[in-house]
Amino acid sequence: MDLETLRIEAEKNYIPILREDTEKILIKTLEKEQPKNILEIGTAIGYSGTIILQNSNSKLTTIELNKDRYEFAKNVFKNFNLENRVNQILGDANEILPTIKEKYDFIFLDGPKGQYLKELPYLFDILSENGTLFADNIYYHGWVKGNEYPKHKHRTAILRLRKFIEECKLKFPTINLYDDGDGILIAKKQQTKN
Ligand SMILES: C[S@@+](CC[C@H](N)C(=O)[O-])C[C@H]1O[C@@H](n2cnc3c(N)ncnc32)[C@H](O)[C@@H]1O
Repeated sequence: MDLETLRIEAEKNYIPILREDTEKILIKTLEKEQPKNILEIGTAIGYSGTIILQNSNSKLTTIELNKDRYEFAKNVFKNFNLENRVNQILGDANEILPTIKEKYDFIFLDGPKGQYLKELPYLFDILSENGTLFADNIYYHGWVKGNEYPKHKHRTAILRLRKFIEECKLKFPTINLYDDGDGILIAKKQQTKN
């Protein structure tokens, strides 16, 4: 299986994966930061995990709640001969994050959008001093930026994402926001010269 087939497979099954423009920014960021130990929240079927591993010399720990997706991703990593660099965890990131002792120098945050805010303190703690947080979908269909959004269904997630962005601005000395894809936040624990 190649990456294009995997993308089509995800679309066919309505599994949301990395958008193509987000993928380009993720690859550029990995090339710039050269991380060695990456954490991903939201494996899905292993598309972004494969991109991460193919574009870095890092190992990857990736968390997924859905058992079928976890199993599918296992085969995907095997298919790309990446299984020795991946530690897949099946479970709820909200329960797993508080138990993690290891430090990561790159975190790809791509789980449920309504949980980003709650997860932030744990993510900040396990991010190493020169670490990078890369959060996807922060504008959530553009609703986080605009005044118009579907009032009932997504209201909580949108308000939490707004708070998440504000909290990141307070916590991280370096933060960049991108409109590309569904909105991307890239934050660094250290001050950087652009
Ligand atoms: C946007 S998808 C991830 C896409 C993937 N990163 C990619 O680009 O190929 C989000 C994933 O998070 C998973 N998820 C939802 N709630 C979760 C939780 N509490 N803990 C871990 N994973 C969760 C979903 O099952 C879904 O597969």
